[in-house]
Amino acid sequence: MQGKTILLIVGGGIAAYKSLELVRELRRAGARVTPVLTEGGARFVTPLSLGALAEAKVRTSLWDLEDEASMGHIALSRSADLVVVCPATADLMARAAAGMADDLAATLLLATDTPVLMVPAMNVRMWLHAATQRNVAMLRDDGVTVMSPDEGEMACGEFGPGRLPQVPAIVGAIVAALAPKSHQLAGKHALVTAGPTHEPLDPVRYLGNRSSGKQGFAIAAALAAEGARVTLVAGPVGLATPAGVTRVDVVTALDMAAAVEAALPADVAVMVAAVADWRADVAATKRKKVAGETPAPIHLVENPDILHGLAHGRRRPQLVVGFAAETGDLIAAATAKRLRKGADWIVANDVSEGIFGADATDVHLVTADGAEHWGAMAKADVAARLVARIIDAL
Ligand code: CTP
Repeated sequence: MQGKTILLIVGGGIAAYKSLELVRELRRAGARVTPVLTEGGARFVTPLSLGALAEAKVRTSLWDLEDEASMGHIALSRSADLVVVCPATADLMARAAAGMADDLAATLLLATDTPVLMVPAMNVRMWLHAATQRNVAMLRDDGVTVMSPDEGEMACGEFGPGRLPQVPAIVGAIVAALAPKSHQLAGKHALVTAGPTHEPLDPVRYLGNRSSGKQGFAIAAALAAEGARVTLVAGPVGLATPAGVTRVDVVTALDMAAAVEAALPADVAVMVAAVADWRADVAATKRKKVAGETPAPIHLVENPDILHGLAHGRRRPQLVVGFAAETGDLIAAATAKRLRKGADWIVANDVSEGIFGADATDVHLVTADGAEHWGAMAKADVAARLVARIIDAL
């Protein structure tokens, strides 16, 4: 941590006083701390105590002309090695997830291009509320590291998750966030497909599926974080492009097959997309409804299997990974699929519980050596673990 600069945003919660202890630990470890206090935060700790411990000027307002002249909020947001929000309140996380810029803290979070670590603390009901959980999931999707709060008795007398994690745990998360990435995939080209495909039926309708693209985007992000050059061929999803990833947007399976072909050669391909098995004969004009009449049948044509084509092609990547969504005898089905498609590995998801759009999943990795149960985990963790295996294999 020696010599690193941490921009510390202190939000307005009862746990704000613990940020003072955090500042002391960070200073002790040799970090510089640039403190930012929200209006709410200033009700729990004073700028004087925060500034004294940080040995730095505390910023509070977006409208401080003197600061804007010497160091604007854009420069402030980027001058740090890491942005830490502690405590991250429900309100501040909601504003950050929505991309608002209505105070200095939110503006810094929107303007920064450095990694962000949020340390939530709030009442248990607020933490468990669907809105907060949605905001946390959105922030994680956007690449923010959000720690899980501790469980226990709260200042308000209730019991459950929502307490600020212990200061040593926060320091540990900061050390991990500052650790240089190993860049073990530097010089490698990784190809990832993600999301659904949409197969048009007529100018306004399509056949689609409920794939969210989250798993494929998480894998593309994890590969890029290890220094790989990543081409992400994405079906129609509304997700942000992960940092350092080249994205090619496609709509149909035929478009996706062409984009995959155009992206070759690659060292590794991870085919996460839920490609539609069939496409329809597209009607040139909108199919009209005629009351009481049976609609004309939709004639379906099989789409090319992109994974199969890649695995059996002339320019086969060294490592080809497929995904399978299975119910019932998952291992047997994934084992057979691995052989049939010619993939080296299949990541098999148990979809009997319904994982589409969720942030967590239950997976098995099926290789030539058999199946490993990885268990229930966040999609980001599946990505991290898979990328660690890819590094070993390459
Ligand atoms: N896949 C592909 N091109 C297709 C269909 C699937 O590249 N036209 C890839 C997916 O990206 C995934 C893997 O193949 O990596 C598994 O797809 P899945 O649809 O489960 O395979 P199917 O054999 O079509 O599945 P099912 O068991 O339902 O027949």
